[in-house]
Amino acid sequence: MDQAASLLAQGQVVAFPTETVYGLGANALDSGAVEAIFKAKGRPQDNPLIVHLGEQSQADKYVQAIPPKARLLMERFWPGPLTLVLAKTGQVPPVVTAGLDTVALRVPDHPLALELLRQTGFPLAAPSANLSGRPSPTRAEHVLADLGGRIPAILDGGETGWGLESTVLDCTVEPFRLLRPGGVTLEDLRALVPVTFAASEGEDKEPPRSPGMKYQHYAPDATVFLLTGQGVRARIQEESEPYRRRGQKVGVMTWNERSHLYSGFTVLPMGSEGDLQTLANKLYHLLRQADHLGLDVLYIEGVPEADLGLAIMNRLRKAADYREIKT
Ligand code: TXA
Ligand code: MG
Repeated sequence: MDQAASLLAQGQVVAFPTETVYGLGANALDSGAVEAIFKAKGRPQDNPLIVHLGEQSQADKYVQAIPPKARLLMERFWPGPLTLVLAKTGQVPPVVTAGLDTVALRVPDHPLALELLRQTGFPLAAPSANLSGRPSPTRAEHVLADLGGRIPAILDGGETGWGLESTVLDCTVEPFRLLRPGGVTLEDLRALVPVTFAASEGEDKEPPRSPGMKYQHYAPDATVFLLTGQGVRARIQEESEPYRRRGQKVGVMTWNERSHLYSGFTVLPMGSEGDLQTLANKLYHLLRQADHLGLDVLYIEGVPEADLGLAIMNRLRKAADYREIKT
């Protein structure tokens, strides 16, 4: 902890755990340090970063005003997996926000992240600690696999809790607009304030509201297909036939209870049927496993898009590069 804090104070980058995924942090008020994040990740310069705060009261320094409805959400969900986009002040260097006049803020709910923020005394700009285009890291070893040799330190806090990145909510428009679904669900938000969400976000031709949405994310090396509907099993058997005949390695991601339906496939078990919390937690690890196993093709059984299912399907669609088969 002391070493991590002192590296950060020297303007270096350090990977650290949060309750969602590992972040690659640097002093958000030091442009040079923030540039090193983009360099280590190979992240496009026009994709802005989330600024992590130790406590809610620090938000006032970095945003113009906090609308009462945004205040309500902070009170309810911070610390926690909710990122709020608000109009920024001059305190936030342009490199953090990719030149936008808004900034994304959150208070992480993880003892190590909070202790690091307390010890350093400055806010931490931090994207997920993966190489750009790879699944977000949920274990220190994932960070090491992606960024080993490129960053000076990883603060190892074991497995992260949620396993998916935070919910991102644009609070500069009325009603607020959901930019990225996450652990704080659309249902959670709508219980308090009106929120809009376009499920097709990220696929449309309009300039994206959240620059990160235009990049492909979470992609394993295998060709991934996402299947939904009633006839998933039969369709996977049928679709995979040519690949299997050519001797290619074909995987399927399915609930434990359905594994026995796929003999001859490499099965990546999603956990007990319907347990979305467990699935979210292991999703990125499963996608990384697809690479370790050297799969050529991966079929993924979709889940219903309610509660955490919305965030899970959002990530799966990206992993599949929007190759979705409706049966
Ligand atoms: O759970 C998380 O959010 C993790 C942990 C480390 O906090 N961080 C994370 O950061 O997922 P990153 O950089 O991988 O994703 C941040 C997302 C991107 O899609 C980015 O475009 C969007 O937030 N974003 C950041 N600032 C924004 C802004 N000012 N306006 C709109 N979108 C913004
Ligand atoms: Mg990311």
